[in-house]
Amino acid sequence: MREQLLAAEKVKAIEWRDGTLYLLDQRLLPQQEVWLAYDSAAEVADAIRDMVVRGAPAIGIAAAYGLVLGVRARLAEGDADWQVALEEDFTVLGESRPTAVNLFWALERMRERLQRLKAGDDALALLEAEAIGIHQSDREANLTMAQLGMELIRRHQGNPQNILTHCNTGALATGGFGTALGVIRAAYLEGLVERVYADETRPWLQGSRLTAWELLGEGVPVTLNADSAAAHLMKTRGITWVIVGADRITANGDVANKIGTYQLAVNAMHHGVRFMVVAPSSTIDMGLESGDDIPIEERDGRELLEVGGRRVAADVEAFNPVFDVTPADLIDAIVTEKGIVERPDAAKMAQLMCRKRLH
Ligand code: MRU
Repeated sequence: MREQLLAAEKVKAIEWRDGTLYLLDQRLLPQQEVWLAYDSAAEVADAIRDMVVRGAPAIGIAAAYGLVLGVRARLAEGDADWQVALEEDFTVLGESRPTAVNLFWALERMRERLQRLKAGDDALALLEAEAIGIHQSDREANLTMAQLGMELIRRHQGNPQNILTHCNTGALATGGFGTALGVIRAAYLEGLVERVYADETRPWLQGSRLTAWELLGEGVPVTLNADSAAAHLMKTRGITWVIVGADRITANGDVANKIGTYQLAVNAMHHGVRFMVVAPSSTIDMGLESGDDIPIEERDGRELLEVGGRRVAADVEAFNPVFDVTPADLIDAIVTEKGIVERPDAAKMAQLMCRKRLH
């Protein structure tokens, strides 16, 4: 399965080459595939804020490389106190987006590596290795989660399933081939998927622009639907699973994910459709007790008021929260690289976090 999954890895969103970070500009997909090059921490922070790169694991990886660029610049300044100056880069990267905890997790890992430096160490090489390690371990986590999630689908239903997904959780959002979309890919390879329904994911259209593009590229049968069609689809199209990613999971198993996920979970419960969340342990924030504590990003109202840069809405004020919180009791399973938590609660989440990764 691992080899088959690796062979299905076609799209990449992040590349680190010869000390430069390259990001596939996701704002332009699927019409144009343009790679942008980054040489400074501040530029990477802008790229995260402007959604050149997006998706929780991917922004964590980009931030780690951004920090490496910061280290290089600070060392080049020749100041003995370069680590003090580097705090500015930590701050600028940390302020780029607030909800996905992977960003803060990755910066924390970089900080810990920095604190372990000894006199005479090659700081730049060691921090670069740490960022590459973060990138590679996310790819590995994707592979493990794909296998676990696929087995969960097989355990509950053996026949090909119609699956509903939200936002984009694939290669564009991670360091590998995806979290929720990785599970869907693995299940498709095993003959367990009849069709994927991709929510359009207003207002940024991650579903219609990115998920549909990724799945079409691999020949996975995919149909696009308006977000507001989800309940109707569950009722009429034999959906058996909703499978989504996460931006932050709290100690009690509440899940923040793309706006619209919460209403999917409520609808899934009503229709007896199973609800699976797929996320690496870097998305779990045991420091927050419940989803009520998660900062929810609100983006510019123009994302709602305009379509393709052209104003379509009346002269009205817009409220644009881009994530919501699904309470743990609406979730059937959280799949991570450390294992699966079914019917999550605080005790089960704490047990999970004590486990080692399965790969
Ligand atoms: O605003 P985005 O596109 O960064 O939001 C992305 C999501 O909500 C994804 O579902 C989540 O990050 C999981 S990606 C593996």
